Amino acid sequence: MTKKPSSKQRVLSGVQPSGDLHIGNYLGALKNWVDSQDEFENFFCIVDLHAITVPYEPSELREKTREVAAMYFACGIDPSRSVVFVQSHVSEHAELAWLLNCATPMGWLGRMHQYKEKSEQQKGQVFVGLFDYPVLMAADILLYDADRVPVGEDQKQHVELTRDIAQSLNSRLGQSVFTIPQPFIPGVAARVMGLDDPKKKMSKSTSTPHHAVGLLDEPKTILKKFKRAVTDSGRSIRFDEERHGLHNLLSIYQSMTGETAEAIEAHFEGKGYGDLKREVAEATISRIEPIQKRYREITDDPAALDRLLLEGAERARAVANVTLERAFDAMGFLRPRLKK
Ligand code: AMP
Ligand code: TRP
Repeated sequence: MTKKPSSKQRVLSGVQPSGDLHIGNYLGALKNWVDSQDEFENFFCIVDLHAITVPYEPSELREKTREVAAMYFACGIDPSRSVVFVQSHVSEHAELAWLLNCATPMGWLGRMHQYKEKSEQQKGQVFVGLFDYPVLMAADILLYDADRVPVGEDQKQHVELTRDIAQSLNSRLGQSVFTIPQPFIPGVAARVMGLDDPKKKMSKSTSTPHHAVGLLDEPKTILKKFKRAVTDSGRSIRFDEERHGLHNLLSIYQSMTGETAEAIEAHFEGKGYGDLKREVAEATISRIEPIQKRYREITDDPAALDRLLLEGAERARAVANVTLERAFDAMGFLRPRLKK
């Protein structure tokens, strides 16, 4: 059975429906997905099963899931070119995760940085799902025979684990059941840093008020957050990695405007940090205002959004089911071939 009919490389990525999406998610993930839609065959998923691996609010999960989906479309993911779906709508994810669980040594999971960090933060509330998180992520990736997995630096270890699981199962089963994926870490804006602490990555789970610029923040809030951004006591406006706050603002400006570093340094020659902060805010606002407008249009019609997600799930399942059956078969299961 051929794994992929298309000659294009396959991409799979996902975002959890927890917290508020921010400009780091946009510049480090969504914008790149949108820009490379034609080059690859794309599967973008809202990973709701992953979102319940930490304590969460059931009454918010549904809305957060719609929110992330609407934001994918508002940022420019085009459902005619990319498959967008919710992870829990395709039950193959949980099924393959179980098969992979039975082939993943505990020691491999115990080494995961994210598990160590989160289990430390959540002492007393550490569930099996948190430990098993990377195996579910491996199932997400392997079900679609993904060649490329665009993720932030922090998720690289999970993609490497996926490779290890796939390679060890392929070799144990003596056949190439799973495609071995590559992590793909974007260059520019791979790490947008927090405005209040430019040594820390901007994160959905940090709740200090001037840390992250939300994709749904109002213009005046965006301006206020940038104005309060931590910088240094220097004067010249240059790309200098040692000056963390300044470098972060310049990188955001560069990603929002698409200008070269030289042009940006020339533009800010003789200007001060006040000007820079105002201009970064303006560039951000003009970039995200049309996204916010589309977002409002999409969320005004939740039934249409749900229909798009249902279609996405059907297209995703058509691919995922073939891989799952291939895995069941190779692992020796008797399959009933029931109609789903
Ligand atoms: P998360 O917010 O951790 O669920 O991540 C969702 C996606 O956004 C992942 O692909 C991350 O790599 C990306 N991302 C999250 N935070 C940042 C950031 N501060 N800078 C760049 N990319 C980010
Ligand atoms: N763990 C990823 C994150 O927190 C989200 C995720 C789940 C994912 N499954 C995935 C990313 C599969 C890429 C591919 O960012």
